[in-house]
Amino acid sequence: MTEHFKMDAPATDRRLDDMAQGLVGAPLDRPEGPLKVSGTATYANEWQVDGMVHGVMVRAPTNSGRIVLSNRDEVANLPGVLSVIQDERLLRNPAQGTANQAPVQGAQHAAYVGQLIAVVVAESFEQARHAAQSLQVVLENGELMPVDPVTAAVEAQEDQALDQGDLEGAITGAAHSVDVTYTTPSHSSSPMEPHASIASWDGDDLTLRGSYQMLKYNRNELADALGVHPDRVRIISPYVGGGFGSKLGLAPEAVAAAIAAKELGRPVSVALQRQQVYEATMRRSETSQRVRLAADAEGRLNGLGHDARVSNLPGETFAEPVLQASHFLYAGENRQMSMELARLHRLCAGSVRAPGEAVGVTVLENAMDELAHEAGIDPVELRLRNIPEKDPESGKEFSSRRFRDALESGARAFGWSKRPGVMERREGEWLIGYGMASAARINVLMDSQARVALQPDGRARVETDMTDIGTGTYAILGQIAGEMLGLPRDRIDVVLGDTDLPPAAGSGGSWGATSSGTSVYVACQAIRRQLAERLEVEEQDLLLKDGRVTYANQTKALGDVLQGDEIVKLGYVQPGDTSEAVRQATFGAYFAEVAVHAASGETRVRRMHGSFAAGRILNAKTARSQCIGGMTFGIGMALTEELAFDPRDGHVANHNLAEYHIPVNADVPQLTVELLEERDDWASPLQAKGIGELGICGAAAAITNGIFNATGVRVRDYPATLDKVITGM
Ligand code: MOS
Repeated sequence: MTEHFKMDAPATDRRLDDMAQGLVGAPLDRPEGPLKVSGTATYANEWQVDGMVHGVMVRAPTNSGRIVLSNRDEVANLPGVLSVIQDERLLRNPAQGTANQAPVQGAQHAAYVGQLIAVVVAESFEQARHAAQSLQVVLENGELMPVDPVTAAVEAQEDQALDQGDLEGAITGAAHSVDVTYTTPSHSSSPMEPHASIASWDGDDLTLRGSYQMLKYNRNELADALGVHPDRVRIISPYVGGGFGSKLGLAPEAVAAAIAAKELGRPVSVALQRQQVYEATMRRSETSQRVRLAADAEGRLNGLGHDARVSNLPGETFAEPVLQASHFLYAGENRQMSMELARLHRLCAGSVRAPGEAVGVTVLENAMDELAHEAGIDPVELRLRNIPEKDPESGKEFSSRRFRDALESGARAFGWSKRPGVMERREGEWLIGYGMASAARINVLMDSQARVALQPDGRARVETDMTDIGTGTYAILGQIAGEMLGLPRDRIDVVLGDTDLPPAAGSGGSWGATSSGTSVYVACQAIRRQLAERLEVEEQDLLLKDGRVTYANQTKALGDVLQGDEIVKLGYVQPGDTSEAVRQATFGAYFAEVAVHAASGETRVRRMHGSFAAGRILNAKTARSQCIGGMTFGIGMALTEELAFDPRDGHVANHNLAEYHIPVNADVPQLTVELLEERDDWASPLQAKGIGELGICGAAAAITNGIFNATGVRVRDYPATLDKVITGM
C-alpha cells in the first residue's frame, strides 16, 4: 500500500490543474484557527498528565569550567523538592535538527553563560522554581573564554568558497564599483510559545508532549541523548506556537524532563522561562559581510564578491549560510566568495528565520543600492539589467523564475516611479524616502510520508507526523486531499504532530508544505487509481467532485463505489534528479516608504509592498500571511532587532520580549503582498515551491535603502536605530 515517488523528472502533466473541487490555491481559513483563538488548542505545557510534577532548569553563570552544585543537599531538602539532577546526558547545546548530527551532550561543563546545566524537580512549579533559584552553581577551573567575533579564532569554510575569473581585475577595469562591509547582529527566533516538554514513561516507553518542528529528527535526537532505541520514543506535538528555527532540533528541556521522569517514576513537565529561551535555544549568528561589485557604464555586473564571517560555539558545524543566494541571484562572470567561522562562547548558533538569505540577501541588496546610486541608475533598473540568463556559476537553467515580473509588477503596485531623489522630500519634521530590494531563497524538496484513507462514509483522513507551526499545514494538506479526492474541505480530517504517524519532512527551510503536500498528493493519486480500477476506467477519466465520481457518462456517490471498504494509501515522496538538474529558487521584490524624523533620526515604515513568485500557491491566505510575517521580521531586522551580548562574558543582556525588540503592531504599517501565478514543474508534482521564508529574504534592505533615499545616510551596522541614523545626518 506504499506509493513511492521520486522527483526525478519534471511533472509536466500538471494534474492539479485538471481537478474539479477548486480547493487548491483557495484562500481558505485554517480549520484549527477557532481552537487557537479560543484557547482550546492544547499546547505542550498545557497538558494535564496524572501525577505530573514540575522541573525548572538551572543556568550556568559563566562560560567555562566544571559545574559544581555546592549546596545541592540543602536544596534537595527544601519543601516539595523531589530531585536535583545533574546528568551527563543533559544537552549542552540545543540540537540542530539535522539528520546527521547527534545532539551535543555533557552539561557538566559550561560553554556559554545561560547554558542549562541541571534541573530541579518538585511537587509544584513554585517549589521547583524556588529551589532552582536557591541552588548555588560554582564553576571549577573556569577562565572566561573568547566571546568576540572580531578577535576570536576563525576557521575558513572551504566548501563555501568560490573563485571564478578575476574579480580584482574586474574591479580595476570597472566603470562603477562598490566595496562595502555591513554587519548584522545576532537574532533570537523568539517564538511566542516557550520551549516546553512533558515526559512520561510507561516501562521503557517514553511519551514526550513537546513543541517541535521536525518530529522524526527530534525523536531520534531524544533517543540518542537518552541512549534508548527510537522505537521507544513517541513525540506528540499537534500545536506549535511558533518555532522560527529554534524548534527544528531538540531543546534542553526535553532531555531534562525525560531523565527526571525516568528517575522519579512520575511524569515531569519542564518549560523554559522566557529568559532561558533567549539564553539557551538558538540564535542566528551575527555576520560581517563584505560585498564588492564591479559594473560597466550601463550598470551591467562583471564582478561580484561576497566575503562573510559568522560564528558558532566550538564543535558546532552550523555556519549561517549567508552566501547562498549570492551564488545565483545576479550575473557577473568574475566571482569570488569566502566564509569564515569564528569560534566563540556565545549561545549556540543555528537556523533562525531563513538562515542565510535573511541576512545575506539583505546585505547584497544594500550593496546593489549603493551601486545604483554610484552609477546613477534606478535601483529597479539595475536589478533588471543583471538578471542572469542561467545560473552564473553552474550554468544550469532556472526551474522557474518570475523575478523580472516581481520587480516590474511590484514597482507598479507600489508607485515606484514617484520615488523622490535623495533627501528631496520632506513633510514637516519627517524626511521621506523610498527603498527597494530583491527577494531570493533556495527551494528544496525533502523526504516525506503521509497516509490517506478514503472512507466509505465519504470522508477522508490524512495522517502524518508533519507539524503545523502556525503556518497552515492543517489547512493545506486538507485542501490537497480534498482536491484530489473530490471532497469538500470539511469532509477531510487532518491528523498531525505525532511520531506514531508516518514520518514527514517537518517544518523547516520552507520545504514543509511542498514536501508533505506532495506525499498527500501521491497517496491520493494511488487512491484514484484504485477507484479507477474498480470502475474499469482510466484514472485520468475520473472526475471527482463533492463526494461523487463521474466517469463514462455516469455519476455515482463515492460511498456506492467503495461499498463499505476503506482505501488506504501511504504516499512516500523523495527528492530526486530534479534537485540537481536545475537551479531551484523563489524570487520577489520589496518596496518600502519610510519616514525619518529630522530631529531624532527615528525611522517609521509608512507602507511596504512585496511581490513574490513561489510556484503554485497552495492557499492564497496562508501564503500571504507567511509573506507578511517575513516582511514584519524584515522591519524588525532593519530597525530594532538585536540580540545584545555582554562584551566580557558573552551573556545575553536583553533576554526578554521587553528588551529584545521584535516589531509590534505599532511598528508595522499596511503591508501588501502580491503572489504571482507560477508553475514549477521541477520542484514538485504540485508545481509549488516553498514560500514560508521568502518574505524575509532581503526585506530589511528595502527599509535601510529607503533611509538612504530619505536622509543620504548609509547605516552599515544593523539595526538602523535612531542613534546611528542621526549621527550621519
Ligand atoms: Mo526554519 S529557520 O528552517 O525553521
